Amino acid sequence: MQIIDGKKTSAEIREEIKVKVEKLKEKSGKVPGLVTILVGEDPASQVYVNSKIKACVEIGMHSKLEKLDASISEEELLRLVNQYNNDPLFHGILVQLPLPKHIDEDKVIEAINLNKDVDGFHPSSVGKLVIGKDTFKSCTPFGIMELLKRYKIETKGKHVVVVGRSNIVGKPIANMLVQKEEGANAVVTVCHSAAPDLSIFTKQADILIAAVGRAHLITKDMVKDGVVIIDVGINRIDAREKKKGYKLVGDVDFDNVSEKSSFITPVPGGVGPMTIAMLMTNTLKAFSKLENIN
Ligand code: GUN
Repeated sequence: MQIIDGKKTSAEIREEIKVKVEKLKEKSGKVPGLVTILVGEDPASQVYVNSKIKACVEIGMHSKLEKLDASISEEELLRLVNQYNNDPLFHGILVQLPLPKHIDEDKVIEAINLNKDVDGFHPSSVGKLVIGKDTFKSCTPFGIMELLKRYKIETKGKHVVVVGRSNIVGKPIANMLVQKEEGANAVVTVCHSAAPDLSIFTKQADILIAAVGRAHLITKDMVKDGVVIIDVGINRIDAREKKKGYKLVGDVDFDNVSEKSSFITPVPGGVGPMTIAMLMTNTLKAFSKLENIN
């Protein structure tokens, strides 16, 4: 069994991007810029946003945080997005989700300039992904694709079973893996909460991707020997032995399932850290395209 080390892989990718950013800066005198828009005080969002900004700074990108009060109107937020759509200093725009209930998330995402949609959430980016055109790929599934590539895990003709059908992970990863291209070309099954017996599907998986948000949903009896496990879940469970009183676990019962697997991502330290590396990758791509420089 081999652990897929997302923390290490993410650090390697960010180092590669840092070198590229330095070279591009020498060439053009410009650096990629990412603006992060955070509305309200959601504690989890604040943690995510801080690590995104820290990554930008370490890489040498230009980063700005727009921290807005939860009471901002939809109209004002749309105006701000539009301002950054036209600001040449910023090549990527990230609106942290969720937004307060009085704001229509779809409207805000659709307002983002497609060339700056580094989260890959715009319906046109998603549509291009589905039909196999070059586009921004949303960062968590893109990170999974990169892990499979860097660990040389064959996907062609393999049966990938995705558990979960979210717009952020389940649907996009299924669409990435089914493409007829290098690093994909898999046979993909997507299953979800309406499946009467999940294990009928999961037992057939050569590669199992769990993205549901239910602690330890996938147990040893649900997988076959040699399976590759990609665990996207991040769940808090009580742990009295920990100072904080809780610990983070995935959707997979790691200790037992790992005995049967050929590769497995841990939680934390697996898929999670890859999201930021791919956000940086997308921001660099946006810069290269908008500035017409490689
Ligand atoms: N909220 C949770 N994950 C994400 C993400 O990847 N991007 C954005 N914009 N919001 C999120």
